[in-house]
Amino acid sequence: MRLVLLGPPASGKGTQADVLTKRFSTPKISTGDMLREARAKGTALGKEAESFMNSGRLVPDSVVIGLVAERIALPDANAGFILDGFPRTVPQAEALQDLLGKVGRPLDFVVQIDVPRELLMERATLRRMDSLTGQIYHLKYNPPPAGVEVVHRADDQEETVKKRLDEYDTMTAALIPFYTALGLLRRVEGAGSPESVTERMIAAIGK
Ligand code: AP5
Repeated sequence: MRLVLLGPPASGKGTQADVLTKRFSTPKISTGDMLREARAKGTALGKEAESFMNSGRLVPDSVVIGLVAERIALPDANAGFILDGFPRTVPQAEALQDLLGKVGRPLDFVVQIDVPRELLMERATLRRMDSLTGQIYHLKYNPPPAGVEVVHRADDQEETVKKRLDEYDTMTAALIPFYTALGLLRRVEGAGSPESVTERMIAAIGK
């Protein structure tokens, strides 16, 4: 299964990717996680990405395309992958088509998770992540167990979330017609419990 999860910030891509990766036994490839890891390690790439991420803007295409190209070439991605947060611009989507076309392993589906904007703000600002494992929690819908040390993402402050949502509308929403034209897009309602969203996704891709 080669799947792209497409959706605005905090629509549930990471939460669903964690479930689907177990179901299909394929790795989750999250550019957000990879960039946060690079930033935490203080690598050159992490330093380059930092100011873009902290201000809610997209990291330049050349940086993320290189990152994904390297990751997809690793052996564990041969049998498939769940892409979470990539592509986010038309040039990224074209690069992915090119990359997968060359190895004869095209995408199976692109699942668009649709969530109303007011819900996205609440999901983002109350999100917390396990500082050790990266497990995603929500203070209202899925509170972390006692004793788990959680972090609040720097870009989950209300003003930055607004910028990220605007960035989605101007840069990433263009992927909806792009993938519709390729016959790959499946739209899924993202409101409701995580379990019900997973059921809709599985139904949408016929698995
Ligand atoms: P990234 O980490 O990819 O952020 P994002 O796309 O904004 O997505 P999020 O991680 O915010 O949300 P999500 O959709 O995964 O939702 P989640 O499952 O956590 O990117 C961060 C930054 O890195 C970008 O701004 C950019 O700077 C850079 N970047 C990354 N990729 C890039 C690229 N390709 N190109 C350029 N720059 C790039 O859920 C959110 C919350 O809601 C959680 O608390 C969760 O518990 C809760 N929740 C989830 N589902 C439900 C549900 N059904 N009901 C109730 N609560 C729910």
